[in-house]
Amino acid sequence: HGTMTINSRGHLEIGGCDTVELASTFGTPLYVVDEELFRQNCREYYRAFTEKHGAEVIYAAKTLLNLAICRLVEEEGLGMDVVSGGELYTALQAKFPMSRVYFHGNNKSREELRLALEARVGRFMVDNLYELEMLNQLAGEMHTRADVILRLTPGIEAHTHEYIKTGQIDSKFGLVIENGQALAGVKRALEMDHIVLHGLHCHIGSQIFELDSYAHAAGVMMDFAALVARETGWAPSELDLGGGLGIYYAEGDQPRPVAEYADVVMRSVREKAMAHGLPVPRVIVEPGRSISGPAGTTLYTVGAVKDIPGVRKYVAVDGGMGDNPRPALYQSRYEACVANKAAAPAEEVVSIAGKCCESGDMLIWDIALPGVQPGDILAVSCTGAYNYSMSMNYNRLPRPAMVLVKDGRADIIVERETYADLLRNDVIPERLRKSRR
Ligand code: LLP
Repeated sequence: HGTMTINSRGHLEIGGCDTVELASTFGTPLYVVDEELFRQNCREYYRAFTEKHGAEVIYAAKTLLNLAICRLVEEEGLGMDVVSGGELYTALQAKFPMSRVYFHGNNKSREELRLALEARVGRFMVDNLYELEMLNQLAGEMHTRADVILRLTPGIEAHTHEYIKTGQIDSKFGLVIENGQALAGVKRALEMDHIVLHGLHCHIGSQIFELDSYAHAAGVMMDFAALVARETGWAPSELDLGGGLGIYYAEGDQPRPVAEYADVVMRSVREKAMAHGLPVPRVIVEPGRSISGPAGTTLYTVGAVKDIPGVRKYVAVDGGMGDNPRPALYQSRYEACVANKAAAPAEEVVSIAGKCCESGDMLIWDIALPGVQPGDILAVSCTGAYNYSMSMNYNRLPRPAMVLVKDGRADIIVERETYADLLRNDVIPERLRKSRR
């Protein structure tokens, strides 16, 4: 996919860059982001939703964010969904247009809300009544008003991993429609002096393939909008349907085209609006994984290879759950190839182990690869989303560098962490210093 090919040396090439050379120039583990594919994915959404249906697309920053990524998102005309002061700060530092920023989160702090009010973000996606009251009060103190979309729980079970589904009633996110909380929230927001309520939001989960789930969610939201309109006379002018479109990681995953997703969702919204005699709201979607995921590849160097005859062959790489916690957290599957033997046929089935001190630190179980030897470069694909953004320093492993590749150029967009970086926030209290002879 994207600009991935095999070059004349039989090496995997991304963005016109030989990945084996990338590994030797920048070291491993290395996150490689295919600029062209990232942009193409943005454009696919822009065309399908914005050009065709006048809908707004906001990139879910939680999947992959740094200053350079902010630039790409801005250039491609998307907005941004941020979920914390840190993500907001990153967008601010990148001079991302704040009117296109939507601020999510189920427990925003007063300081985060203040920062967002000062920055004048486009929308506050308010998750609960506590936040609503705090935001109204803060906006009042700052002599301003907050533009708000209320997050609701539509009561929909999507087929995905337990940890990444969010639409069901028993969820930490949003106001429940069924028990009247959502209606109470809307009424309260409408009577507040410093809140301007624009619309409603739901997000049913992530890595979802059934488009019906989205149509269903859109329908439930529009039915609720009709109820609200009857009760209050107010109708949402915006409807945010969250993110979640699934991508291909490994065999069995069957992603749906973005254009189809857009058409299905928009049809459902329009039909329901018509049926209820409501204006068609401006639709917003928040894709993350389906934009950044396929654009990322992680390069590792193979180290220890341990064969347990008749049992399993373990191939250990120089990264693992520190740079990609997804297999350990969600039993996520990935595909990989040996970058320096990209054209060679598969010869054996091996399992790829990380280097953390945990048996659960396995990147891939049972993958067919050409004979793997120490020093080989392993390329794991589709690591653009929720990898770097969920990376950690467990075992005091420095986080990898990230390069942006395009047309044979590779530019560092995140420096590799150093051992010194690991100590940056460490402090030895005076009393421990004294005890030191
Ligand atoms: N909007 C909201 C409100 C969300 O909660 C999320 C993801 C998105 C949009 C973007 O969803 P996407 O298009 O990326 O599926 N760490 C997990 C996924 C957590 C999803 C969090 N919310 C993983 O690695 O699978």
